[in-house]
Amino acid sequence: MNFQAPKGVKEYVPPQVATFSAIRAAFAETARRAGYARMETAVFEDTQLFARGVGESTDVVSKEMYTFTDRGGRSLTLRPEFTAGVLRAVLEYGLHRGQLPVKVWTDGPVFRAEAPQEGRYRQFYQLDLEAIGSEDPAVDAETIALAWQWYSSIGLTQVRLLLNSLGCKECRPIYRARLQEFLRGLDLDEATRARIEINPLRVLDDRRPEVRAQLEDAPLIGDHLCADCKAYHDRVKQLLADLGIPWEDTPRLVRGLDYYTRTTFEFDHPLLGAQSGIGGGGRYDGLSEAIGGPPLPGIGFGLGLDRTVIALEREGVAPATPPRCEVYGVALGEEAARAMFKLLSELRAAGVAADMAFGGKGLKGAMKGADRSGARFALILGERDLAAEAVQLKDLTTAEQTEVPLAQVVDVLKGKVQ
Ligand code: HAM
Repeated sequence: MNFQAPKGVKEYVPPQVATFSAIRAAFAETARRAGYARMETAVFEDTQLFARGVGESTDVVSKEMYTFTDRGGRSLTLRPEFTAGVLRAVLEYGLHRGQLPVKVWTDGPVFRAEAPQEGRYRQFYQLDLEAIGSEDPAVDAETIALAWQWYSSIGLTQVRLLLNSLGCKECRPIYRARLQEFLRGLDLDEATRARIEINPLRVLDDRRPEVRAQLEDAPLIGDHLCADCKAYHDRVKQLLADLGIPWEDTPRLVRGLDYYTRTTFEFDHPLLGAQSGIGGGGRYDGLSEAIGGPPLPGIGFGLGLDRTVIALEREGVAPATPPRCEVYGVALGEEAARAMFKLLSELRAAGVAADMAFGGKGLKGAMKGADRSGARFALILGERDLAAEAVQLKDLTTAEQTEVPLAQVVDVLKGKVQ
């Protein structure tokens, strides 16, 4: 075969996909218990939604979007993140006219044209949760707590929560001007000097040692928060402390997307190396207006499923995954295969994961299939068993075999596997 998946596209295939599926399923439960409804949104959007929402000056918009023109001449972009599209859909369907906050979550592939490496892909997977329409520190703490609970529910123990406040439309411009003033006095290259004028906070995120060294005395947003932002941030921390969730105050935490205000956070994993950010989020109180909607505050997060899978591997934990097959049917002869096929359907309807040997394999080949399936039990049905209306039930862990009447086998197995 000459084809391979395009460069940087992350795929999950059996058996490794089991972990991926299990942690997604765990999130559905975490979200449901907190009143978040699942939604499905567009995989591609009007390019302007991201330009206005995420921000023209961000790397995501300026360098990493998969943008194409459709047959009608429209400029469309594969979603590089969920938030702008989720908010667009909330506004489009008028969900914000009902109970607030609108609590929604979704997940799926996200696309960014980045240089691929371990933990950094061009098609990757995010779990995204948003609470839209409330400006209440408890909502901020709730979203953070849900991500935290999910990490812990899947077995991760080394996740760190980095927390900051980016201020609001009152105090941020004052801080921004002060930061610009400071940055203009430094010895920086052309591109970084240009960034000072467009997005000075991003300069704080520079990883080059020669830049870092000069940033040591940079003014920090934490010292410039207005009284409201400070009180808000203190309250978020108080609520997190009440839940026993530890955080690290990270005054230089700036996120890669422009819409953030006030609470911002990242989840970091120490065993992941360069791509240590396994999730991130924050408040985006001006995003709705930026995309042409009414004032509508919001907060949420995006969790990187791919990096989370790597973190699990590094911590050496495997989340429990439901068995793919609990009972494996081995039928010998055409009539027995017919009866087994029907039995399989009855077992599945009764909630038992069941499979069988297909393709008329002999006993040996079929028993090999039973072993490979991971099933705990094999059901062996020969012509003679069929005549006696019975089936041989073999426990593959002990090799113990018993005869069970065909009419009882579903009940017997239900009792054994559940
Ligand atoms: P983000 O920080 O850009 O935030 O992405 C969230 C997570 O996606 C990151 O922490 C990381 O785990 C994962 N991620 C990002 N880029 C890649 C990549 N190229 N390969 C693999 N994983 C990646 C957002 O996208 C915001 N929409 C989050 C949010 C929701 N804020 C408010 N609501």
